Amino acid sequence: MNEIEVNGASPLFNTDGLQYREFPSDFTKIRYYTLILVSSAPSRIKETNLLEQQVSELIKNGIAHGNKRDPRKILKVWYNFSHKSARIIVEDQGAGFQGIEEWNKFNRRRLECLRDQNFEKLVNYISFRSHENDEKDGGNALFAALEYWNGGLVFNDKKNAVAAKKIFSHADAGDKLGDFQPWDIDSDRPVPGHQ
Ligand SMILES: Nc1ncnc2c1ncn2[C@@H]1O[C@H](COP(=O)(O)OP(=O)(O)OP(=O)(O)O)[C@@H](O)[C@H]1O
Ligand SMILES: [Mg+2]
Repeated sequence: MNEIEVNGASPLFNTDGLQYREFPSDFTKIRYYTLILVSSAPSRIKETNLLEQQVSELIKNGIAHGNKRDPRKILKVWYNFSHKSARIIVEDQGAGFQGIEEWNKFNRRRLECLRDQNFEKLVNYISFRSHENDEKDGGNALFAALEYWNGGLVFNDKKNAVAAKKIFSHADAGDKLGDFQPWDIDSDRPVPGHQ
């Protein structure tokens, strides 16, 4: 998945089985809203705060870019976190992220620079900026978001709602842990009783 999609008909916008909350667009409370959402996640999928961090970036974008920090504007959130996957839909009341195509192009160039180890050119692709942005915007959260939400990152046709899915592969992790050989550092030998 190396593009942000635009497809209001994507199955990621299906809200069946998702929980629902709405929040006023109070920028100072983003982390608090995020904690409320993520508190429903099984602890093994939280991955040392990665889930919380990625959820908060989508909330932050909806409040900051979509609702322009207007506390009268509501942010609607549908979500479900299970062992297998994390799903979230964040809908704001803004004009939508109209620069998605431009963003995808920018990201492709950025990835090319990384692939070619062209660090001189990479300087131009550190942060995405459009005429909408001010100097406070970092312009890079969505690069990591695209990597994290490995089941898709898709905007609706109006581009004011984003749906994201992360698929966890614990089965593999479990197998690896099963193979793990505990080591005794004092004797510098495998721990007795394990093989
Ligand atoms: N819900 C949205 N409504 C309108 N524009 C959006 C929305 N979400 C993202 N954008 C646009 O996408 C751009 C990139 O978002 P991204 O999160 O990567 O960076 P940022 O928000 O500018 O800074 P930061 O790295 O601090 O999050 C934003 O600057 C904004 O122009
Ligand atoms: Mg952002």
